Amino acid sequence: MTGPVILVVGARPNFMKIAPIHAELAKRGIEQILLHTGQHYDENMSKVFFDDLGMPQPDIYLGIGSGSHATQTAKVMVEFEKVCKENNPSMVIVVGDVNSTVACSMVCAKEWIPCAHVEAGLRSFDREMPEEINRLVTDAIADYLLTPSPDGDENLRNEGVAEDRIKRVGNVMIDSLFNNLERAKASTIHSDLGIEKGNYGVLTLHRPSNVDDKDAFIGILEALEKIGDRISLVFPLHPRTKNRAEQFGLTQRLESIPNIVLTGPAGYLDFVALMAESKIVLTDSGGLQEETTALGIPCLTLRENTERPVTVTEGTNTIVGNDTQVILDAANDVLDNGGKAGRIPDLWDGKTAQRIADIIEEVIG
Ligand code: UD1
Repeated sequence: MTGPVILVVGARPNFMKIAPIHAELAKRGIEQILLHTGQHYDENMSKVFFDDLGMPQPDIYLGIGSGSHATQTAKVMVEFEKVCKENNPSMVIVVGDVNSTVACSMVCAKEWIPCAHVEAGLRSFDREMPEEINRLVTDAIADYLLTPSPDGDENLRNEGVAEDRIKRVGNVMIDSLFNNLERAKASTIHSDLGIEKGNYGVLTLHRPSNVDDKDAFIGILEALEKIGDRISLVFPLHPRTKNRAEQFGLTQRLESIPNIVLTGPAGYLDFVALMAESKIVLTDSGGLQEETTALGIPCLTLRENTERPVTVTEGTNTIVGNDTQVILDAANDVLDNGGKAGRIPDLWDGKTAQRIADIIEEVIG
Protein backbone atom coordinates (compact mmCIF):
# COMPACT_ATOMS: atom_id res chain seq x y z
CA MET A 1 0.00 0.00 0.00
CA THR A 2 1.30 3.44 -0.84
CA GLY A 3 -0.81 6.26 0.65
CA PRO A 4 -0.04 8.03 3.94
CA VAL A 5 -1.13 6.86 7.39
CA ILE A 6 -3.80 9.20 8.76
CA LEU A 7 -3.72 9.84 12.52
CA VAL A 8 -7.05 11.16 13.83
CA VAL A 9 -7.50 13.50 16.81
CA GLY A 10 -10.70 15.23 17.80
CA ALA A 11 -11.03 16.02 21.46
CA ARG A 12 -8.74 16.83 24.38
CA PRO A 13 -8.13 13.25 25.60
CA ASN A 14 -6.93 12.23 22.09
CA PHE A 15 -3.93 14.54 21.82
CA MET A 16 -1.71 12.84 24.40
CA LYS A 17 -2.45 9.43 22.83
CA ILE A 18 -1.56 10.45 19.26
CA ALA A 19 1.54 12.58 20.04
CA PRO A 20 3.91 9.65 20.80
CA ILE A 21 2.63 7.68 17.78
CA HIS A 22 3.17 10.70 15.51
CA ALA A 23 6.71 11.15 16.84
CA GLU A 24 7.56 7.46 16.37
CA LEU A 25 6.24 7.35 12.79
CA ALA A 26 8.18 10.53 11.98
CA LYS A 27 11.34 8.92 13.38
CA ARG A 28 10.81 5.92 11.11
CA GLY A 29 10.18 8.13 8.06
CA ILE A 30 6.65 6.84 7.54
CA GLU A 31 4.47 9.24 5.54
CA GLN A 32 1.63 10.49 7.73
CA ILE A 33 -1.16 13.04 7.91
CA LEU A 34 -2.21 14.47 11.27
CA LEU A 35 -5.94 15.18 11.04
CA HIS A 36 -7.90 17.17 13.65
CA THR A 37 -11.67 16.94 13.36
CA GLY A 38 -12.15 20.12 15.44
CA GLN A 39 -14.56 18.44 17.90
CA HIS A 40 -12.73 20.46 20.55
CA TYR A 41 -11.76 23.87 19.23
CA ASP A 42 -11.14 26.31 22.12
CA GLU A 43 -7.48 27.24 22.40
CA ASN A 44 -7.29 25.85 25.96
CA MET A 45 -9.03 22.58 24.97
CA SER A 46 -6.93 22.03 21.86
CA LYS A 47 -4.09 24.26 20.59
CA VAL A 48 -2.22 24.41 23.89
CA PHE A 49 -1.91 20.61 23.83
CA PHE A 50 -0.12 20.60 20.48
CA ASP A 51 2.36 23.12 21.85
CA ASP A 52 2.82 21.31 25.18
CA LEU A 53 3.22 17.90 23.56
CA GLY A 54 5.63 19.18 20.91
CA MET A 55 3.27 17.95 18.20
CA PRO A 56 3.16 19.89 14.91
CA GLN A 57 -0.04 21.69 13.99
CA PRO A 58 -2.52 19.40 12.20
CA ASP A 59 -2.06 18.93 8.43
CA ILE A 60 -5.83 18.85 8.01
CA TYR A 61 -8.39 20.57 10.22
CA LEU A 62 -12.06 19.71 9.65
CA GLY A 63 -13.52 22.43 11.92
CA ILE A 64 -16.53 20.34 13.01
CA GLY A 65 -17.19 22.07 16.36
CA SER A 66 -19.97 21.39 18.87
CA GLY A 67 -23.36 19.85 18.17
CA SER A 68 -25.64 17.01 19.20
CA HIS A 69 -24.08 13.55 19.06
CA ALA A 70 -25.72 12.75 15.72
CA THR A 71 -24.76 16.11 14.20
CA GLN A 72 -21.16 15.94 15.37
CA THR A 73 -20.66 12.31 14.35
CA ALA A 74 -22.32 12.78 10.96
CA LYS A 75 -20.38 15.95 10.14
CA VAL A 76 -17.07 14.21 10.91
CA MET A 77 -18.09 11.28 8.66
CA VAL A 78 -18.99 13.53 5.71
CA GLU A 79 -15.74 15.50 5.88
CA PHE A 80 -13.50 12.55 6.70
CA GLU A 81 -14.84 10.57 3.75
CA LYS A 82 -13.76 13.40 1.41
CA VAL A 83 -10.28 13.40 2.96
CA CYS A 84 -9.96 9.65 2.46
CA LYS A 85 -11.02 9.84 -1.17
CA GLU A 86 -8.48 12.61 -1.81
CA ASN A 87 -5.57 11.08 0.06
CA ASN A 88 -6.05 7.35 -0.36
CA PRO A 89 -4.58 6.45 3.07
CA SER A 90 -2.86 3.10 3.52
CA MET A 91 -4.12 3.00 7.11
CA VAL A 92 -6.05 5.13 9.63
CA ILE A 93 -5.33 5.28 13.37
CA VAL A 94 -8.12 6.28 15.76
CA VAL A 95 -7.76 6.53 19.55
CA GLY A 96 -10.03 6.50 22.59
CA ASP A 97 -13.79 6.75 22.65
CA VAL A 98 -14.95 10.18 21.50
CA ASN A 99 -17.42 10.92 18.70
CA SER A 100 -14.56 11.57 16.25
CA THR A 101 -13.20 8.05 16.95
CA VAL A 102 -16.38 6.22 15.98
CA ALA A 103 -17.12 8.54 13.04
CA CYS A 104 -13.74 7.98 11.35
CA SER A 105 -13.72 4.24 12.01
CA MET A 106 -17.13 3.94 10.31
CA VAL A 107 -15.84 5.74 7.23
CA CYS A 108 -12.85 3.36 7.07
CA ALA A 109 -15.07 0.29 7.33
CA LYS A 110 -17.15 1.39 4.35
CA GLU A 111 -14.17 2.55 2.28
CA TRP A 112 -12.20 -0.63 3.04
CA ILE A 113 -9.34 1.31 4.61
CA PRO A 114 -7.40 -0.65 7.25
CA CYS A 115 -8.16 0.97 10.60
CA ALA A 116 -6.49 0.46 13.98
CA HIS A 117 -8.21 1.42 17.24
CA VAL A 118 -5.77 2.37 19.98
CA GLU A 119 -7.24 1.82 23.47
CA ALA A 120 -9.52 -0.96 22.23
CA GLY A 121 -11.49 -3.35 24.43
CA LEU A 122 -12.27 -1.03 27.35
CA ARG A 123 -15.82 -1.46 28.64
CA SER A 124 -17.75 0.24 31.44
CA PHE A 125 -20.79 -1.97 30.65
CA ASP A 126 -22.85 1.20 31.01
CA ARG A 127 -24.63 2.00 27.78
CA GLU A 128 -25.90 5.30 29.13
CA MET A 129 -22.38 6.64 28.53
CA PRO A 130 -21.99 7.97 24.99
CA GLU A 131 -18.36 6.83 25.10
CA GLU A 132 -19.42 3.20 25.72
CA ILE A 133 -21.45 3.23 22.49
CA ASN A 134 -18.45 4.71 20.68
CA ARG A 135 -16.17 1.99 22.10
CA LEU A 136 -18.54 -0.86 21.16
CA VAL A 137 -19.11 0.33 17.59
CA THR A 138 -15.46 1.17 16.92
CA ASP A 139 -14.28 -2.22 18.17
CA ALA A 140 -16.93 -4.02 16.14
CA ILE A 141 -15.62 -2.57 12.87
CA ALA A 142 -11.94 -1.60 13.25
CA ASP A 143 -9.49 -4.12 11.78
CA TYR A 144 -6.78 -3.95 14.45
CA LEU A 145 -7.75 -3.68 18.10
CA LEU A 146 -4.77 -2.44 20.10
CA THR A 147 -5.48 -2.94 23.80
CA PRO A 148 -3.86 -1.35 26.87
CA SER A 149 -4.46 -4.18 29.38
CA PRO A 150 -5.58 -7.84 29.65
CA ASP A 151 -9.17 -6.89 30.56
CA GLY A 152 -9.44 -5.28 27.12
CA ASP A 153 -8.42 -8.55 25.41
CA GLU A 154 -10.89 -10.46 27.57
CA ASN A 155 -13.81 -8.13 26.79
CA LEU A 156 -13.15 -8.43 23.06
CA ARG A 157 -12.95 -12.23 23.24
CA ASN A 158 -16.25 -12.28 25.10
CA GLU A 159 -17.77 -10.28 22.24
CA GLY A 160 -16.59 -12.93 19.78
CA VAL A 161 -13.71 -10.95 18.26
CA ALA A 162 -11.23 -13.16 16.39
CA GLU A 163 -7.90 -13.55 18.17
CA ASP A 164 -5.85 -12.21 15.23
CA ARG A 165 -7.51 -8.78 15.48
CA ILE A 166 -6.50 -8.33 19.13
CA LYS A 167 -3.02 -6.99 19.89
CA ARG A 168 -1.97 -5.92 23.37
CA VAL A 169 0.37 -2.96 23.04
CA GLY A 170 0.07 -1.24 26.45
CA ASN A 171 -1.03 2.26 27.36
CA VAL A 172 0.18 4.92 24.95
CA MET A 173 -0.98 7.82 27.11
CA ILE A 174 1.65 6.76 29.64
CA ASP A 175 4.31 7.29 26.92
CA SER A 176 3.27 10.95 26.84
CA LEU A 177 3.22 11.16 30.61
CA PHE A 178 6.74 9.73 31.03
CA ASN A 179 8.09 11.72 28.05
CA ASN A 180 6.89 15.00 29.56
CA LEU A 181 7.27 14.54 33.30
CA GLU A 182 10.64 16.32 33.44
CA ARG A 183 9.39 19.25 31.33
CA ALA A 184 6.30 19.50 33.50
CA LYS A 185 8.54 20.13 36.51
CA ALA A 186 9.37 23.55 35.01
CA SER A 187 5.68 24.57 35.18
CA THR A 188 4.98 27.64 37.32
CA ILE A 189 1.37 26.59 37.92
CA HIS A 190 1.77 26.16 41.70
CA SER A 191 3.02 29.69 42.29
CA ASP A 192 0.62 31.07 39.67
CA LEU A 193 -2.32 29.62 41.61
CA GLY A 194 -0.80 30.29 45.05
CA ILE A 195 -0.85 26.65 46.19
CA GLU A 196 1.74 24.71 48.14
CA LYS A 197 3.28 21.66 46.45
CA GLY A 198 2.20 18.42 48.11
CA ASN A 199 -0.65 20.01 50.02
CA TYR A 200 -3.73 20.23 47.82
CA GLY A 201 -6.19 18.09 45.90
CA VAL A 202 -7.07 18.24 42.18
CA LEU A 203 -10.63 17.93 40.94
CA THR A 204 -12.05 17.52 37.43
CA LEU A 205 -15.68 16.94 36.46
CA HIS A 206 -17.39 16.83 33.08
CA ARG A 207 -19.44 13.62 32.74
CA PRO A 208 -23.07 14.29 31.79
CA SER A 209 -24.15 11.95 34.65
CA ASN A 210 -22.48 14.30 37.18
CA VAL A 211 -22.89 17.77 35.75
CA ASP A 212 -26.00 17.63 33.53
CA ASP A 213 -28.05 16.35 36.49
CA LYS A 214 -28.61 19.18 38.99
CA ASP A 215 -29.13 16.92 42.03
CA ALA A 216 -26.00 14.90 41.29
CA PHE A 217 -24.02 18.13 40.82
CA ILE A 218 -25.29 19.51 44.16
CA GLY A 219 -24.47 16.22 45.93
CA ILE A 220 -20.87 16.50 44.76
CA LEU A 221 -20.69 20.18 45.79
CA GLU A 222 -21.81 19.21 49.31
CA ALA A 223 -18.92 16.75 49.58
CA LEU A 224 -16.46 19.35 48.23
CA GLU A 225 -17.62 21.91 50.80
CA LYS A 226 -16.47 19.53 53.55
CA ILE A 227 -13.27 18.38 51.82
CA GLY A 228 -12.37 22.05 51.23
CA ASP A 229 -12.35 22.52 55.01
CA ARG A 230 -9.38 20.14 55.16
CA ILE A 231 -7.37 20.83 52.01
CA SER A 232 -7.14 23.29 49.08
CA LEU A 233 -8.83 22.00 45.94
CA VAL A 234 -7.70 23.04 42.46
CA PHE A 235 -10.60 22.73 40.02
CA PRO A 236 -9.92 23.46 36.32
CA LEU A 237 -13.41 23.88 34.88
CA HIS A 238 -14.38 22.05 31.68
CA PRO A 239 -16.61 24.19 29.38
CA ARG A 240 -19.54 21.80 29.87
CA THR A 241 -19.25 22.05 33.67
CA LYS A 242 -18.94 25.85 33.64
CA ASN A 243 -22.03 26.12 31.40
CA ARG A 244 -24.09 23.78 33.57
CA ALA A 245 -23.11 25.54 36.82
CA GLU A 246 -24.33 28.81 35.30
CA GLN A 247 -27.52 27.25 34.00
CA PHE A 248 -28.35 25.65 37.39
CA GLY A 249 -27.49 28.87 39.30
CA LEU A 250 -24.66 27.06 41.11
CA THR A 251 -21.71 29.28 40.15
CA GLN A 252 -21.71 31.28 43.37
CA ARG A 253 -22.00 28.15 45.49
CA LEU A 254 -19.09 26.66 43.58
CA GLU A 255 -16.98 29.77 44.14
CA SER A 256 -17.82 29.71 47.87
CA ILE A 257 -16.38 26.23 48.55
CA PRO A 258 -13.71 26.74 51.24
CA ASN A 259 -10.15 26.83 49.80
CA ILE A 260 -11.30 26.19 46.22
CA VAL A 261 -9.04 27.41 43.41
CA LEU A 262 -11.12 27.66 40.23
CA THR A 263 -9.30 27.96 36.91
CA GLY A 264 -10.03 27.43 33.23
CA PRO A 265 -8.97 24.16 31.54
CA ALA A 266 -5.25 23.64 32.24
CA GLY A 267 -2.63 22.90 29.57
CA TYR A 268 -1.01 19.47 29.46
CA LEU A 269 2.27 20.29 31.22
CA ASP A 270 0.55 22.40 33.90
CA PHE A 271 -1.96 19.66 34.54
CA VAL A 272 0.69 16.95 34.81
CA ALA A 273 2.55 19.21 37.27
CA LEU A 274 -0.65 19.65 39.27
CA MET A 275 -1.36 15.92 39.43
CA ALA A 276 2.22 14.92 40.21
CA GLU A 277 2.45 17.12 43.34
CA SER A 278 -1.09 16.54 44.65
CA LYS A 279 -2.24 14.58 47.69
CA ILE A 280 -5.44 13.34 46.10
CA VAL A 281 -7.23 13.51 42.75
CA LEU A 282 -11.03 13.46 42.48
CA THR A 283 -12.30 12.98 38.94
CA ASP A 284 -14.85 11.53 36.56
CA SER A 285 -12.36 11.44 33.66
CA GLY A 286 -11.12 8.20 32.13
CA GLY A 287 -7.54 9.24 31.44
CA LEU A 288 -6.87 10.66 34.90
CA GLN A 289 -7.61 7.28 36.48
CA GLU A 290 -4.67 5.93 34.46
CA GLU A 291 -2.31 8.86 34.88
CA THR A 292 -2.73 8.86 38.67
CA THR A 293 -2.02 5.11 38.74
CA ALA A 294 1.18 5.69 36.76
CA LEU A 295 2.17 8.54 39.11
CA GLY A 296 1.19 6.70 42.31
CA ILE A 297 -1.28 9.40 43.37
CA PRO A 298 -4.51 8.25 45.10
CA CYS A 299 -7.53 8.79 42.84
CA LEU A 300 -11.22 8.80 43.74
CA THR A 301 -13.41 8.27 40.69
CA LEU A 302 -16.80 9.97 40.96
CA ARG A 303 -18.60 7.44 38.78
CA GLU A 304 -20.52 4.21 39.37
CA ASN A 305 -18.20 2.18 37.14
CA THR A 306 -14.96 2.29 35.20
CA GLU A 307 -13.86 1.00 31.81
CA ARG A 308 -10.33 0.96 33.27
CA PRO A 309 -10.59 -1.72 36.03
CA VAL A 310 -6.84 -2.34 36.11
CA THR A 311 -6.47 1.09 37.79
CA VAL A 312 -8.55 -0.30 40.67
CA THR A 313 -7.17 -3.86 40.87
CA GLU A 314 -3.52 -2.85 40.41
CA GLY A 315 -3.38 0.94 40.67
CA THR A 316 -4.33 3.73 43.04
CA ASN A 317 -7.94 4.21 41.92
CA THR A 318 -11.10 3.79 44.02
CA ILE A 319 -14.60 4.00 42.52
CA VAL A 320 -16.81 6.10 44.80
CA GLY A 321 -19.82 7.18 42.68
CA ASN A 322 -21.45 10.53 43.38
CA ASP A 323 -23.05 10.00 46.80
CA THR A 324 -22.00 12.84 49.14
CA GLN A 325 -21.15 10.73 52.17
CA VAL A 326 -19.30 8.02 50.21
CA ILE A 327 -17.09 10.66 48.52
CA LEU A 328 -16.43 12.32 51.85
CA ASP A 329 -15.56 9.10 53.71
CA ALA A 330 -13.19 8.04 50.92
CA ALA A 331 -11.51 11.48 50.80
CA ASN A 332 -11.08 11.56 54.58
CA ASP A 333 -9.56 8.09 54.45
CA VAL A 334 -6.99 9.21 51.84
CA LEU A 335 -6.17 12.38 53.80
CA ASP A 336 -5.84 10.46 57.10
CA ASN A 337 -4.17 7.27 55.87
CA GLY A 338 -2.47 8.16 52.58
CA GLY A 339 -4.65 6.10 50.22
CA LYS A 340 -3.91 3.05 48.09
CA ALA A 341 -0.31 2.32 47.10
CA GLY A 342 -0.75 0.37 43.84
CA ARG A 343 1.69 -0.63 41.11
CA ILE A 344 2.11 0.33 37.45
CA PRO A 345 0.40 -2.26 35.18
CA ASP A 346 2.43 -4.31 32.67
CA LEU A 347 3.29 -2.58 29.37
CA TRP A 348 2.59 0.87 30.77
CA ASP A 349 6.28 1.37 30.18
CA GLY A 350 6.56 4.38 27.88
CA LYS A 351 7.26 2.14 24.84
CA THR A 352 3.73 1.58 23.59
CA ALA A 353 4.12 3.89 20.57
CA GLN A 354 7.03 1.72 19.37
CA ARG A 355 4.85 -1.40 19.53
CA ILE A 356 2.06 0.43 17.69
CA ALA A 357 4.46 1.63 14.99
CA ASP A 358 5.73 -1.97 14.53
CA ILE A 359 2.15 -3.05 13.82
CA ILE A 360 1.57 -0.12 11.44
CA GLU A 361 4.74 -1.00 9.50
CA GLU A 362 3.62 -4.60 9.24
CA VAL A 363 0.19 -3.58 7.89
CA ILE A 364 1.36 -1.01 5.35
CA GLY A 365 4.33 -3.14 4.31
C1 UD1 B 1 -15.91 14.92 24.99
C2 UD1 B 1 -15.93 13.40 24.85
C3 UD1 B 1 -15.53 12.76 26.18
C4 UD1 B 1 -14.21 13.32 26.68
C5 UD1 B 1 -14.31 14.84 26.75
C6 UD1 B 1 -13.01 15.46 27.23
C7 UD1 B 1 -17.61 12.44 23.29
C8 UD1 B 1 -18.89 11.74 23.20
N1 UD1 B 1 -17.25 12.87 24.52
O1 UD1 B 1 -16.95 15.26 25.91
O2 UD1 B 1 -15.40 11.36 26.01
O3 UD1 B 1 -13.92 12.78 27.94
O4 UD1 B 1 -14.65 15.33 25.46
O5 UD1 B 1 -13.13 16.85 27.30
O6 UD1 B 1 -16.93 12.60 22.28
N2 UD1 B 1 -16.97 23.05 24.25
C9 UD1 B 1 -16.34 24.26 24.26
N3 UD1 B 1 -15.10 24.34 23.72
C10 UD1 B 1 -14.47 23.27 23.19
C11 UD1 B 1 -15.12 22.02 23.20
C12 UD1 B 1 -16.38 21.94 23.75
O7 UD1 B 1 -16.86 25.25 24.72
O8 UD1 B 1 -13.32 23.41 22.71
C13 UD1 B 1 -18.32 22.95 24.82
C14 UD1 B 1 -19.32 22.50 23.78
O9 UD1 B 1 -19.92 23.57 23.17
C15 UD1 B 1 -20.30 21.67 24.56
C16 UD1 B 1 -19.49 21.17 25.73
O10 UD1 B 1 -18.31 21.94 25.81
O11 UD1 B 1 -21.34 22.45 25.04
C17 UD1 B 1 -19.18 19.70 25.60
O12 UD1 B 1 -18.29 19.43 24.52
P1 UD1 B 1 -18.35 18.03 23.70
O13 UD1 B 1 -17.14 17.85 22.87
O14 UD1 B 1 -19.67 17.89 23.09
O15 UD1 B 1 -18.33 16.92 24.80
P2 UD1 B 1 -17.45 16.77 26.08
O16 UD1 B 1 -18.35 16.82 27.23
O17 UD1 B 1 -16.25 17.67 26.06
